[in-house]
Amino acid sequence: MAKRTYGYNTTESHVHLNKVYGVQNYKPLDVVIVKGKGVWVWDLEGNKYLDFLSAYSCQNAGYSHPRIVKALIDQAKSCGNVSRAFLHDEQGPFMKQLSNLCGKDAVLPMNTGAEAVETAIKAARKWGLVKKGITKPEIIVFKNNFHGRTTTIVGFSTEEHYKEGFGPFCTEAFPVVDYGDIEGVIKAITPNTVGILFEPIQGEAGIIIPPVGFLRELRRICTQKKILMIADEIQTGLGRTGKMFACDHEKVIPDLYIIGKALGGGLIPVSAVVGNRDILDVFDPGSHGSTFGGYSIGCAVGRVALDVIVEEELPEKSAQMGAYFMRKLREIKSDYIKVIRGKGLMIGLELNTKARPFCEALKKEGLLCKETHDMVIRFAPPLVITKEQIDWAVERIAKVLATK
Ligand SMILES: Cc1ncc(COP(=O)(O)O)c(C=O)c1O
Repeated sequence: MAKRTYGYNTTESHVHLNKVYGVQNYKPLDVVIVKGKGVWVWDLEGNKYLDFLSAYSCQNAGYSHPRIVKALIDQAKSCGNVSRAFLHDEQGPFMKQLSNLCGKDAVLPMNTGAEAVETAIKAARKWGLVKKGITKPEIIVFKNNFHGRTTTIVGFSTEEHYKEGFGPFCTEAFPVVDYGDIEGVIKAITPNTVGILFEPIQGEAGIIIPPVGFLRELRRICTQKKILMIADEIQTGLGRTGKMFACDHEKVIPDLYIIGKALGGGLIPVSAVVGNRDILDVFDPGSHGSTFGGYSIGCAVGRVALDVIVEEELPEKSAQMGAYFMRKLREIKSDYIKVIRGKGLMIGLELNTKARPFCEALKKEGLLCKETHDMVIRFAPPLVITKEQIDWAVERIAKVLATK
């Protein structure tokens, strides 16, 4: 059956609708996507693009993965949301699967990434109170962090624009340290410190990789000081960086994993906090919850999304294709390129000029990319991308970056 268009059949008409009716909290490229399959998306006019954003790393398995789509449809047909007031038959198996994957014994499912980060903050604070009698808990965070958009989270962002006008904030509860600065972390620890919240690679900051050994040192300090190591793997997790979790690059196991994005198979928001019982059992009935967190469709989709990531060896593919892509990118000669960095298929190309015009030019060549922090183009395609598709893309990237 043809999709109803309500008479809005052109890109211009949708750009107009967005301007007139949408709150302008995003600045999208003028492209209206109507279909996605694997690494490709199609716009309203039938133009085909290779998507290098993967819906901000949700589409690790590629658009419209048939197994994940089937899980969604089957579960929607069977019962939809039954709420957490009752159990349903997808919830237990999903939690078992995710806890096994993480090597932990408890899972608290939520929906969006920010909600899961909030959940981890609540867990760490209450753990500090229950286990250590801390009444004014502090969680160390890092400069240029990005953990979401709720008021607590933007309160400890170091990006003025993210927080401007949304205060007051509880800044003393979140001491900020330079990313990668272990001495700074040690100095920031007080008797009130309950945890350290970090991204193993900072995504929104422009794909910033910490110095080798940083995560291992964080682990050592957290163990020594008996504070929680809280890894926000929402963007880096589930294969994006060439390992199941970015912490795996340093063989480090955090106390809490925060997972989101690709856990929803590119279809719906599914997130979770995963840790051991001695931490997550601080929640008792009524102390935390969400109407949709752990709902049946989320769990059904999450289960198959995890199956696909493991069975199709997406972390391994990400490592192989990421290394190949990086090599090809480094062969490009352009005066615009300042530095290329990344792990797996989470790659940032930093320019010495604004990235937006290049993203617009790439769109004309059939590549969808988005600038991050003005000067960086983020390349984060679905992890199912092939060598041939990378070659196709690199040819176009080289053309757009060709120095005039
Ligand atoms: C590292 C990290 N944490 C948290 C979030 C927030 O996730 P959400 O947008 O689903 O709330 C993001 C989103 O980009 C992220 O990259």
